[in-house]
Amino acid sequence: VQTGLRICCIGAGYVGGPTMAMMALKCPEVTVTIVDISVPRIAAWNSDELPIYEPGLDKVVKACRGKNLFFSTDVDQGIRDADIIFVVVEKSTVPIKTAEAISAVLHGAGKTRFDVLSNPEFLAEGTAMTDLDNPDRVLIGGNMNESGQAAVAKLADVYAHWVPRERILTTNVWSSELSKLVANSFLAQRVSSINAVSAICEASGADVDEVARAVGMDSRIGPKFLKASVGFGGSCFQKDILNLVYLCQSMGLPDVAEYFHSVVTMNDRQKERFVSRIIHGLFNTVTGKRIALLGFAFKKDTGDTRESAAIEICRRLIEERASVCIYDPKVEANQIWMDLTAATRLDRTEVEKYVTLCDSAYEAAAGAHALAVATEWDEFKGLDFAKIQDGMVKPCFVFDGRNVLDHAALRKLGYIVYAIGKPLDPKLNTNFC
Ligand code: UDX
Repeated sequence: VQTGLRICCIGAGYVGGPTMAMMALKCPEVTVTIVDISVPRIAAWNSDELPIYEPGLDKVVKACRGKNLFFSTDVDQGIRDADIIFVVVEKSTVPIKTAEAISAVLHGAGKTRFDVLSNPEFLAEGTAMTDLDNPDRVLIGGNMNESGQAAVAKLADVYAHWVPRERILTTNVWSSELSKLVANSFLAQRVSSINAVSAICEASGADVDEVARAVGMDSRIGPKFLKASVGFGGSCFQKDILNLVYLCQSMGLPDVAEYFHSVVTMNDRQKERFVSRIIHGLFNTVTGKRIALLGFAFKKDTGDTRESAAIEICRRLIEERASVCIYDPKVEANQIWMDLTAATRLDRTEVEKYVTLCDSAYEAAAGAHALAVATEWDEFKGLDFAKIQDGMVKPCFVFDGRNVLDHAALRKLGYIVYAIGKPLDPKLNTNFC
């Protein structure tokens, strides 16, 4: 790597922030500047309270900030100074052919010569720093001409600071762009598959975790991403599948489109199934009943709520006129209000008639008819369920949408427990379900 290489990243979000912080850490001689038009966002990156929560991120940012890692709102200057620009060097998921579109715009604008690469990011939220530190692979797609290949080599050299060469894959732009969509579609497909199996388990008395274990020990299948849940969320899965579906339709491949679309359909069905279990479990109506919703993030260890299953669960419970008391250890109150007003199309005062935000699981559970777990936060496992039960309306219900609680212990205490893909509690009302 030439010394003094300057990298600029446009967009100080979930991908740009952690990726660039890791790059700055691993490449001390490279200057990394992250630019964004949002003044408060950049101010937060420059403060003690970073705008996103990601385990390990704080330490890395604090170690590099002001040395070779900078945050700025001066986008033009950042671009002018840079040898490599991320976003232009595409990072996050984009529709395929985006590189082509970017090239057309840049070349149309004139003077400067650019090579456009595709470098999709595979990090997952909550584990971004370890994913970045030790990626399964880095994928770089470029044009097959000389300057395209030189650009690929230049970016590969940056990653080679810490990623073994054999894990840095280079390919053409389209293969790179499509690989990202396919990877996310396959991952989402595994979740929808195990969630489909969870419905069979409930109907048959099988246990979804046992099935996943037995199936996952086949080395051809593998054990990861087989955790049944209330449905996948996050900013990528649904968007990427629908992107692939759209692509298939526009290429005249309706059967392929339909095949991938069923992954999203199954996911929607899983959320509805969970709500249905709550409603029917609570004797076929939740109107006026208090439900403590534990977790609002789309998965643990993140404050991100994009496409979170909790949003749809809440929307349905509000539709049924339940009183929903939400507690999440990380999600900001404002975010929850924004998500719920958008999902219900009600204004905030209207939503507030049904929803209360709480500062602890205990507060949410006080006076509740049921607890519903939507996110697998570790702290939920350590709650004092005997104490919680004292303050709840009897009989006390638990709907575990993540299978994180100790169901046998809860039943011993007297709770009626529903858990995804587990043999049904004989005390649970399943009429009309
Ligand atoms: C995903 C991809 O994993 C990542 O490679 C890509 O770059 C971005 O999209 P992310 O959205 O952060 O990452 O989360 P991920 O850990 O993949 O989980 C997605 C959703 O699936 C979550 O709601 C999670 O709870 C759910 N999930 C995951 C399950 O329900 N069961 C599983 O077994 C795994």
